[in-house]
Amino acid sequence: MSVIALLNLDVHFSAALRLSKGVAKGLHGGDVTLGEGALTSSAPHLPASLRRFIEVVPKAELHVHVEGALEPELMLALAARNGLPPPYPSVEAARAAYHFTDLQSFLDLYYFGCSVLRTQLDFYDLAMSYFRRAAADRVVHAEVFFDPQTHLANGLDWSVFMPGLARAAEDAAVELGLSAAYIMCFRKEMSAASANDTLSGALPWLGRGRIIGVGLDSSELGNPPAKFAQVFERAGRLGLQRVAHAGEEGPPEYVWEALRVLHVRRVDHGVHSLEDAALMAALNASRVPLTVCPLSNLKLKVYEGQLEKRLTQLVGSGLVITVNSDDAAYFGGYAVANYNYLAQVTGMGVTQVARLAANSFEASFFVGPGSGGEARRTALLGQVAALAARALEEEEKQETAEKRRWRR
Ligand code: HPA
Ligand code: ZN
Repeated sequence: MSVIALLNLDVHFSAALRLSKGVAKGLHGGDVTLGEGALTSSAPHLPASLRRFIEVVPKAELHVHVEGALEPELMLALAARNGLPPPYPSVEAARAAYHFTDLQSFLDLYYFGCSVLRTQLDFYDLAMSYFRRAAADRVVHAEVFFDPQTHLANGLDWSVFMPGLARAAEDAAVELGLSAAYIMCFRKEMSAASANDTLSGALPWLGRGRIIGVGLDSSELGNPPAKFAQVFERAGRLGLQRVAHAGEEGPPEYVWEALRVLHVRRVDHGVHSLEDAALMAALNASRVPLTVCPLSNLKLKVYEGQLEKRLTQLVGSGLVITVNSDDAAYFGGYAVANYNYLAQVTGMGVTQVARLAANSFEASFFVGPGSGGEARRTALLGQVAALAARALEEEEKQETAEKRRWRR
């Protein structure tokens, strides 16, 4: 199937989603209200053919914080290597502490975990452990966030974290075939002046550090995007891509501001856009993607009690939605686990999963050294389309065989 043919499937996308949602009980093995207990990366509730497709389809990851990929095992090992007191008595104690009530309760532990990162090698090991895990989930391209202000506040210099991150991105290309670049995030609860100083500090690293853009993360409520208008304008003049977390816990107005004042090319999370029909229409018309992180939303209790309905609305909205892991070490899963969870709660099938994987490449920037540019985007979109066509053919064959068996 050609890319065009795959994209044409979109015409039937919403109808297909509604249909498959309708049969979700029979198809995906039970009630679609899953809760945390039902989550496993093996996703026993999904048909085996869909699980296999989710595993093998190439994907880009566009919303992942490298610091959020710090698994407890590595956190404790780095603390020991650096002669620091262990942040938790054991791996199990760390995991047991990862129960969050909202974004801030997570951020407190996330920044606490970052305190073990001290050397170039620590940043290299952290980024490589993410790239290896991502590659195992068939992530072939990643535009990865990092938080320079956190490491600067911990007394580290750009010359500590940047070489480690940059070297890992280079090695990921060679060892894993995964193209990677970095987006530095400014912390929203910190001042605009601090963000501006951070951008100044990054200037010597823009070329050699694989930094392609700026973003905004951390505490959202009370910190509207417009606070960073000037630094984003400066980043734009420097030729950097612009993205921002908005509408994760904050209202649709914050998403409007990110679009109109910061001129972002992607909105990170953006799930609260659903509450504003005019905003949904604007996102649809502009094709500005939302990088959605299903397990993050579940664990941080965004839309508690309504999350499954909201994710189903997003996937069926026709917007450029992508699936991402955000902070996998804290939220219980990498790319495949997020696709699996989304498939379980929305009842989506191969066509819809292929659409999300294709969206991830359409929403990627593919700029900078080693990105492969437009040629790589086109090639990867072609691979998604070919794999989807094969998976749909397989499903059809199995259905025919099943019918024959019934007729006997
Ligand atoms: N939201 C905001 N800031 C963050 C997140 C997130 O999900 N993860 C790491 N920093
Ligand atoms: Zn995030």
